[in-house]
Amino acid sequence: MREAFVLFILFIAQGKAQVANLEAPAQVDVVNGELVVKCAPSGNGFNFISRLEIKRKLVSESSYITILYVEDPPKGSDPVFRDNNLALKATTEGRAGRVSGALLNFSVSAGRVTCEDGGSYQCKITHTGANNESLTVTSASVNVAVVANPSSGLPVFDLSPSNVPGSTDNVYLKGTTIVLICQSEVGSPARPMRFCHRPAGMPNFLPVSSTQSDVVTPVSTEPGKICILSRTIVATFAIADNAGEFSCDVYNATSNASCGTYLKTSVRSYSGQEYPYCNASNADSTTTTTSTTTTASPTTTNSLSIDETFIAENSSGVSYTGGLSLLLLGCALIFLSGIMVAVSAILYIKAKKLRKEAEMSMIRSTYDSVRFNAGPGPNYSSLEDLKEQTQHRQIEELDSDGYMVPSMTTYK
Ligand SMILES: *[C@@H]1O[C@H](CO)[C@@H](O)[C@H](O)[C@H]1NC(C)=O
Ligand SMILES: *[C@@H]1O[C@H](CO)[C@@H](O)[C@H](O)[C@H]1NC(C)=O
Ligand SMILES: *[C@@H]1O[C@H](CO)[C@@H](O)[C@H](O)[C@H]1NC(C)=O
Ligand SMILES: *[C@@H]1O[C@H](CO)[C@@H](O)[C@H](O)[C@H]1NC(C)=O
Ligand SMILES: *[C@@H]1O[C@H](CO)[C@@H](O)[C@H](O)[C@H]1NC(C)=O
Ligand SMILES: *[C@@H]1O[C@H](CO)[C@@H](O)[C@H](O)[C@H]1NC(C)=O
Repeated sequence: MREAFVLFILFIAQGKAQVANLEAPAQVDVVNGELVVKCAPSGNGFNFISRLEIKRKLVSESSYITILYVEDPPKGSDPVFRDNNLALKATTEGRAGRVSGALLNFSVSAGRVTCEDGGSYQCKITHTGANNESLTVTSASVNVAVVANPSSGLPVFDLSPSNVPGSTDNVYLKGTTIVLICQSEVGSPARPMRFCHRPAGMPNFLPVSSTQSDVVTPVSTEPGKICILSRTIVATFAIADNAGEFSCDVYNATSNASCGTYLKTSVRSYSGQEYPYCNASNADSTTTTTSTTTTASPTTTNSLSIDETFIAENSSGVSYTGGLSLLLLGCALIFLSGIMVAVSAILYIKAKKLRKEAEMSMIRSTYDSVRFNAGPGPNYSSLEDLKEQTQHRQIEELDSDGYMVPSMTTYK
């Protein structure tokens, strides 16, 4: 009995409440979606509706701005656009005045929706109260997201340049780390991207986990397209196999969860070669060995040892031999630079020691030969201690090399 009474009260209260009602889709597709936004009164507490307006707050804005309104008086007036962009592409219908027919709506037809239509919408109603006073009521806001599927353009995918002399097509020394970079249009909201790897002969692509960066930017700065995004991902990968493939995928995180399924992909293949070690007898073999009959092409042969790879009898072998000379030169230079580093370290330590000794003997001889006002001084162990003494005459100065030397003026 009591519950029924409470419900009855609630029903009355709700029935009397003056409510502004906004209808708008939660998302609209930028390519084939239609946007219809409707503002109308609901509840029966209204006497007379003097104004209906639709307000919008863009993602980039901080407050709601009226984009469309209709008023009474003047009686029977048409809706007025306050947004130029919308005025050009939307159709509208609306009237204020009598509560029963009061309504304001607009629609943007399929293909004319742009990123600028996304944002939060509100419906605001100005009405007349029982004592002819002006009242307003505003709806809850509805967020409209403009969405876009990724375009059909394939990801642009690049690997580091080959690091084997004489080869051009993604040939790498085993053990070296290469960089993978890929860019693609990923729609709105931005779809994720990933790198996958498959060694030759293996059935499945597996994710490359070492992603170094993942950056999303608008495809265009044009306001109508600012919500359509492009993504760039970068990863590093240590080459260990004789050959393999990388893929760069744009995927739907819910339906294309694993490598091998994607919305769009680009694939690049590569081959790996053994790292040539520094072996002096290899150098001999390039000049003396001519009997090998192996012919090798760097793009088709992946597991040849260095001797076989670099010694070919025909003219294309010349470039391989050139490559070997370069490699040996490199080895020699690395060895030389190692020696230089060691020598310079030894020299540095020796020079430091010499300087310290020179300082000490200079300090000793200076203090032995000069009389002080301060009487017998403390034990000086370095130039720093010396500088702190303010009592004595200026008996030293910096020479052109930055060393403290006895000042000549002291003896004049
Ligand atoms: C506005 O709403 C009315 C009533 O629901 C509908 O008939 C009309 O097509 C709508 N107009 C626009 C421009 O959306
Ligand atoms: C109500 O107020 C408006 C101005 O706010 C005035 O023009 C109108 O005459 C008033 N109506 C009545 C019945 O008092
Ligand atoms: C991902 O795929 C699922 C299932 O096919 C679909 O419902 C969802 O809308 C898709 N999401 C995106 C962002 O494409
Ligand atoms: C990935 O999922 C999308 C739906 O979200 C589907 O259209 C597409 O065909 C899937 N790709 C693959 C390779 O399964
Ligand atoms: C150096 O090369 C020769 C032949 O080219 C090979 O017999 C020898 O084992 C190599 N030495 C090392 C340390 O790999
Ligand atoms: C050298 O060998 C390569 C690989 O077998 C071959 O394609 C090329 O035609 C040869 N060149 C000459 C001049 O014989």
